[in-house]
Amino acid sequence: MTSYDTILVEQRGRVGWITLNRPDALNALNTRAMHEIVVAAEGFDRDPGVGAIVVTGSERAFAAGADIKEMADKSSVDMVLDDHFGAWNRFAAVRTPVIAAVSGYALGGGCELALMCDIILAADTAAFGQPEIALGVIPGMGGTQRLVRALGYYKAADLVLTGRRIGADEAERAGLVSRVVPAGELLAVAGEVADGIAAKSLPSLYAAKAALDAALETPLSAGLRYESAAFTSLFATEDQKEGMAAFREKRSPEFTGR
Ligand code: CAA
Repeated sequence: MTSYDTILVEQRGRVGWITLNRPDALNALNTRAMHEIVVAAEGFDRDPGVGAIVVTGSERAFAAGADIKEMADKSSVDMVLDDHFGAWNRFAAVRTPVIAAVSGYALGGGCELALMCDIILAADTAAFGQPEIALGVIPGMGGTQRLVRALGYYKAADLVLTGRRIGADEAERAGLVSRVVPAGELLAVAGEVADGIAAKSLPSLYAAKAALDAALETPLSAGLRYESAAFTSLFATEDQKEGMAAFREKRSPEFTGR
């Protein structure tokens, strides 16, 4: 059993929950938090008993960014040799669907952590932004790349160049948020969405997430070939037979992950 300092980790049914827990620093993502989040997410990802992961913070802050105090005195060479944010690529590579449940501040690395997730649920109190430009730097955990892909160039440039914060409604209109929910319902909705996903066939979840990822990385023709190969290969699973038999028999499917 791994013990963690900066996060709380719990499995409820088929859902793995990771709750950022550095309240005194508004869940700022220091190196320890990065490694703990990655280890917890990879642990859930390796477990076939887990079909969805939820990452959340506190009411006040999902995460207020990378830890500024930890980075402040580093040189450019230190940051290169540390590969300071390198481990986040492992979080983004998790095969299991990941839901970000965002309340309060999701700034800098906090916004970028949400952008590494597959579904972003936002409380109506959430505030997103990339304030790095005000610190003399730029986003370093994927913000310039994922925001352009998710929001388009002009909205992304507005956020990255001005550093301004946007609320949940503007974030939803911009395509940065999947759904906005009343703050008091955020965790319940996240639990329902995650339970619903986790009850699906694991091979189809892996295939769906990998195909969605391919859409961000490949030209359309290659993405369509990828999707087609993944779609047809799912007909080799017992879960496909079960899913379609259940439809014909007007009952709920019972997936086994085979
Ligand atoms: N790093 C380290 N500590 C942080 C932090 C961060 N990103 N954000 C907040 N904290 C700390 C504060 O220093 C403060 O600690 P002390 O009490 O010890 O001073 C504590 O959390 C509470 O914060 P505030 O007193 O500032 O709370 P507030 O309600 O007045 O303001 C806030 C909240 C607007 C979010 C403000 O804290 C803030 O602007 N934080 C920094 C946001 C930011 O610039 N994020 C980008 C970081 S760089 C980055 O993320 C790079 C990347 O791309 C990965």
